[in-house]
Amino acid sequence: MALFRIAAMLLTALLLLSCKHTDAGSTLYEELGGRSGINQIVDNFITEIEYSPDIFPYFENSDVARFHEKLSEHICMLASGPCAYTGDTMEQVHAGMNISERDFNIGVDLLINAMNKANIPHTTQNKLLATMTPTRKEIIYK
Ligand code: HEM
Repeated sequence: MALFRIAAMLLTALLLLSCKHTDAGSTLYEELGGRSGINQIVDNFITEIEYSPDIFPYFENSDVARFHEKLSEHICMLASGPCAYTGDTMEQVHAGMNISERDFNIGVDLLINAMNKANIPHTTQNKLLATMTPTRKEIIYK
C-alpha cells in the first residue's frame, strides 16, 4: 500500500513537471495564447521569411501550408501544449541544407520579430527560445 502511495506521488510529480508550469501558474502554451496565439506567431514568421533575402532561398520549393502546420505543432509540443508533433525529425528536415550558424541566428531573429508582432512578452519569448536551443545541433551544418 505504502509502495502504491509512493508510486502515485512520483507519478503526480512527474506529470506536474512535464506540464512545465511557470511562475504565474500557467503553462508556456497558455502564455503564448494557445493554438491561436501560436498560429499567429507562425503566420508572422512566414511573412518574415518571405521578406528575408538570407532565409527565403531555403524555402523556395517548400510547401508553405505543410510548414505552417508542422511548425505550429512543433512549437505547441515544445510549449507543453496538448498536441502531438507529426512532422519529420529536425535532423531529417534540415539534412542537406547546410544551414550556417549565421543563418540559424538570422532565423532566430525572424522568430523574435514574429513574436514581437504577436505581442508576446519578452519573458515568454525567452522561455520558448530556451526550449529550442537544444535542437540547434540537430539543425546546423547538416
Ligand atoms: C530552432 C530552430 C528551428 C526549428 C525548431 C525548425 C523547425 C522546423 C519544422 C518543425 C519544420 C517542418 C517539418 C516538416 O515538414 O516535417 C521545418 C521545416 C523547414 N525548416 Fe526549420 N526549424 C528551425 C530552423 C531553421 C532554419 C534556421 C532554417 C533555414 C535557415 C530552416 C529551414 C527550414 C526549411 C527550408 C523547412 C522546409 C523543408 C521542406 O519544405 O521540406 N529551419 N523546420
